Amino acid sequence: MVMNKKKKIISVVGARPNFMKVAPISRELEKYSDRFQHLIVHTGQHYDENMSKIFFEDLAIPMPDINLGVGPGNHGEQTGKIMIEFEKICLAEKPDLVLVYGDVNSTIAAALVSVKLGIRVAHVEAGLRSFDRSMPEEINRVLTDSISDYLFTPSPDGDENLLKEGVSKEKIYMVGDIMVDSLLFNKGKAAKLDVLSSFGLSAEKYAVLTLHRPSNVDNEENIKNIFAALEIVSEKIPIIFPIHPRTKKMMQKFNINQMKGLKLISPLGYLEFLNLMMNCSFMLTDSGGIQEETTVLDIPCLTLRNTTERPITLSHGTNMLVSNNTDKIIKEAKKILDGGGKKGNNPDLWDGQTARRIINILLNLSDK
Ligand code: UD1
Repeated sequence: MVMNKKKKIISVVGARPNFMKVAPISRELEKYSDRFQHLIVHTGQHYDENMSKIFFEDLAIPMPDINLGVGPGNHGEQTGKIMIEFEKICLAEKPDLVLVYGDVNSTIAAALVSVKLGIRVAHVEAGLRSFDRSMPEEINRVLTDSISDYLFTPSPDGDENLLKEGVSKEKIYMVGDIMVDSLLFNKGKAAKLDVLSSFGLSAEKYAVLTLHRPSNVDNEENIKNIFAALEIVSEKIPIIFPIHPRTKKMMQKFNINQMKGLKLISPLGYLEFLNLMMNCSFMLTDSGGIQEETTVLDIPCLTLRNTTERPITLSHGTNMLVSNNTDKIIKEAKKILDGGGKKGNNPDLWDGQTARRIINILLNLSDK
């Protein structure tokens, strides 16, 4: 990348898990405003205030320069619409580099448009693999990595996966986990909030649930297996559940009723959710990022999936896979309640300095 004049970088974000990844990059790039012009493009993949706007406010991300307003749709439709709209932006703005984040539809759509226009692409959170190609995110990861010019990985397994797929070593940079930058930066602020009393909870005497994967919630048998476990676990400890819009629709469709110990609330912003996570006894989740966040917070995490693209949270962290298996969920939750649950260590470079490392690399590249 030859960068003589001030270079234009476009970050593309669209869905909730992207926002905590762009925040530290945006903050770091602002320090070098003499070298880089940074534009944020929001695709509109997520559009509800509590799935999007609240994150920009909580994380102090500058409001997007451009919103493509794409909205919901089937995968082909949503990815296609983002491509059509983002191509127009690239043609008008002529960026030197496009930064894409994570594994959502906005990630692959923006990467594909950029590379076809000859614009360099950097993938933040590259190399993760669940090896489960029925997950839409896995397809997004494999494809995005295969066409990106710079691959910023969070952990050694990311580098290994990319090398095995034939990606040349020069493109790969292990920089650590960008989510951890946001977590450590905001932990103090989140700790000051009084979230628990507003939900009638006491510290370490409740569990938190998040659930939204199509493989769990769009399938009647799987969602019912999970709720059968929740019914038993919630008799022993209250479970608070900020419910994703997809899951809300599916609970209605499959006539799943509320239960006494399970407290359904609207999706929360970043800081309130972090406060809930920091103070809970344990997490139940099918999210990707929460597996990492609980590892850093040293909170036991039962992941309602068969596989994870973040195996370092199993080998080093507090994570354990329990699938949507009713008995296994109940058994492992009881173990935590009886004995405190799995302890872990922070993986290398999960230290809050990942954005700084990425920008240093971009500065070096721009000098060449
Ligand atoms: C997407 C990501 C997933 C990520 C998740 C986090 C892909 C392929 N998946 O899944 O990796 O973990 O975001 O939330 O990109 N909806 C709303 N309001 C919103 C957003 C969505 O009501 O602001 C509804 C949609 O109408 C749709 C459902 O939620 O019915 C799913 O949204 P979608 O963007 O397709 O995927 P997610 O399940 O959110």
